[in-house]
Amino acid sequence: MFGSHPPPNLLHLKVSAPFTPRCRIRVYLMYFVLVIEVAGWMSYVLVINLAGYMPGRLYDLNVSSYGNEQELKLLIKSFNSKGIKAVADIVVNHRTAERQDGRGIWCIFEGGTADDRLDWGPSFICKDDIEYSDGNGNLDTGEPFQPAPDIDHLNPRVQTELSDWMNWLKNDIGFDGWRFDYVRGYAPSITNVYMKNTSPEFAVGEYWDSVAIGQDGKPEYNQDQHRNEIMNWVQQSGGGSLTAFDFTTKFILQAAVEGELWRLIDPTGKPPGLIGILPEHAVTFIDNHDTGSTQKISPFPSDKVMQGYAY
Ligand SMILES: *[C@@H]1O[C@H](CO)[C@@H](O)[C@H](O)[C@H]1NC(C)=O
Repeated sequence: MFGSHPPPNLLHLKVSAPFTPRCRIRVYLMYFVLVIEVAGWMSYVLVINLAGYMPGRLYDLNVSSYGNEQELKLLIKSFNSKGIKAVADIVVNHRTAERQDGRGIWCIFEGGTADDRLDWGPSFICKDDIEYSDGNGNLDTGEPFQPAPDIDHLNPRVQTELSDWMNWLKNDIGFDGWRFDYVRGYAPSITNVYMKNTSPEFAVGEYWDSVAIGQDGKPEYNQDQHRNEIMNWVQQSGGGSLTAFDFTTKFILQAAVEGELWRLIDPTGKPPGLIGILPEHAVTFIDNHDTGSTQKISPFPSDKVMQGYAY
């Protein structure tokens, strides 16, 4: 959940009132990026995001700019000793390859271990990602991601090996939960597979779509379609400990704090975002590494941030 430049640090600390008996107690959760980089790739492909959103050698945690596997384990232990749990940022929609195949296409993947775990080839790429695929994979179950090969999550070996990798992150490295990156890239049923196979204490999905904008250039008052889509994603992905980022609330709130507080109630008297329809599965936020930070795709008004957090 970090931009490409700043070192990993506290991104998002969520604490909800633990005092109301009816309220499910949430532990402190800190999201920090699981930095997975491709050694030897950076010099060739400069667009590769140094903070790990273009992962390749998933098992190799020693090639990060931020530290090695041992340091990551110690960091998590030290968080745990203070009652803080670690959530790993899981990027599985796409993956960068280590080598070219006989066609000159970058589609030979290396898992980062001595054995063949996660060592895949072009048949593990979605058939409709024609830039990379050899035509043997299944069709993509979600939206395409242009910059890197889209992984075929209907392939049973993909499901098994990614589940094993996530369980390694959990049992060996020490993570307690997942932040699923770009979940619109594959079907909710796929997220459900990884949830079932890894039983995280907590998980949150990045289901990011833009809100409907009116002729005045501002968000429309009614964003039901936007929040319903996120709710449907959570429910179709199996619910349970799975939540979703409340993008609807973020986009409405940042318009509302500009003197338009009427936006903050829907016609039934509830909050207009995901928290109005599925509060127990909604993770609110003000900005993330895409909307704010260095990229500033849709930043919260900088002078209203405290109002946003107060809400
Ligand atoms: C990373 O370093 C650790 C030791 O800190 C080692 O156990 C592990 O095998 C290394 N991983 C790779 C992929 O080289």
